[in-house]
Amino acid sequence: MEMSTDITHAAKRLQAGDLVAMPTETVYGLAANALDAEAVQRIYQAKGRPSYNPLIVHVPDVQTAMQYVEWNVNAERLSQAFWPGPLTMVLKKKPDCPIAPVVSAGLDTLAIRVPAHPIARALLVACGLPLAAPSANRSGHVTATNAAHVAEDFAGKDVLILGAGDTEIGLESTVVSLVDTPVMLRPGSITHAQLEAALQCTIARAQDNNHAPNAPGMLSSHYAPNAALRLNATHVEAGEVLLAFGAPLAAKHVVNVSEQGDLAEASSNLFSALRALDRFGATTIAVMPIPSEGIGEAINDRLRRAAAPKDGN
Ligand code: TXA
Ligand code: MG
Repeated sequence: MEMSTDITHAAKRLQAGDLVAMPTETVYGLAANALDAEAVQRIYQAKGRPSYNPLIVHVPDVQTAMQYVEWNVNAERLSQAFWPGPLTMVLKKKPDCPIAPVVSAGLDTLAIRVPAHPIARALLVACGLPLAAPSANRSGHVTATNAAHVAEDFAGKDVLILGAGDTEIGLESTVVSLVDTPVMLRPGSITHAQLEAALQCTIARAQDNNHAPNAPGMLSSHYAPNAALRLNATHVEAGEVLLAFGAPLAAKHVVNVSEQGDLAEASSNLFSALRALDRFGATTIAVMPIPSEGIGEAINDRLRRAAAPKDGN
């Protein structure tokens, strides 16, 4: 593991097939050259990620995305509304698509996004490669939203961390499949209502299912701290630590994701709050209720998965 702020150096490491953790506006990504199957295999190995869970490809612009996937009118609308930004589109791969098949776990579709973070963009331009990058955490663990989180999860691994402070949004991108009728596969800071407004149609939500082939990453246990989570807590039991939202309940150890009760602030603090609460060593984190509107849908999605039993995922 190595920390750096040198983008040229990081670009060279990517060209050589190495792993680079990069900041994006959502969360940190663990990036590798998406054209190089061996480099991409290193991502799955380093994360301990199941081979059936495909990765997102990051590209610098729409033109590059169009080289890899079958473009359509919905992709055009959403890219105009939200790229660069925290939206991932799943589209059919072009027949001659050079992206290594292992990136999309052998599926004939590809998840693709143009990130907005200036360092991610500079890195994409400097290396001149499409970058496969899942979130930079051990598979199933809490997502990394700063360089210290990445370092915690990949100690002893051959990973260059391009450090740049805390990510702004703090939750992974919204994922929408546009292969057929649009389906929101994962909620994020771009809300369901914003997608419907941009496409002028109703958009279904993927069913939670551990083995659904159209949403292979939507495992029910995910984002999980060591402690168990008790959601929608209205009191704190002896020995529990508290994840608070708004005016806190009484508790010995509290991390408040937003004293003002602001959902955007809560999303940006959520994952570091879970990591911080874990450090108290309690067996259970009580979580105060957080409203489900807007970005609250994504917050509650992550909390539900973090609370799910770790049954072999
Ligand atoms: O904000 C983000 O999306 C971050 C940053 C680094 O870009 N990345 C991220 O990647 O969250 P990851 O691997 O943690 O989540 C990717 C999600 C998974 O749920 C995966 O199953 C889904 O996207 N996915 C990837 N390719 C897919 C495909 N071809 N079809 C359906 N779902 C796909
Ligand atoms: Mg992830």
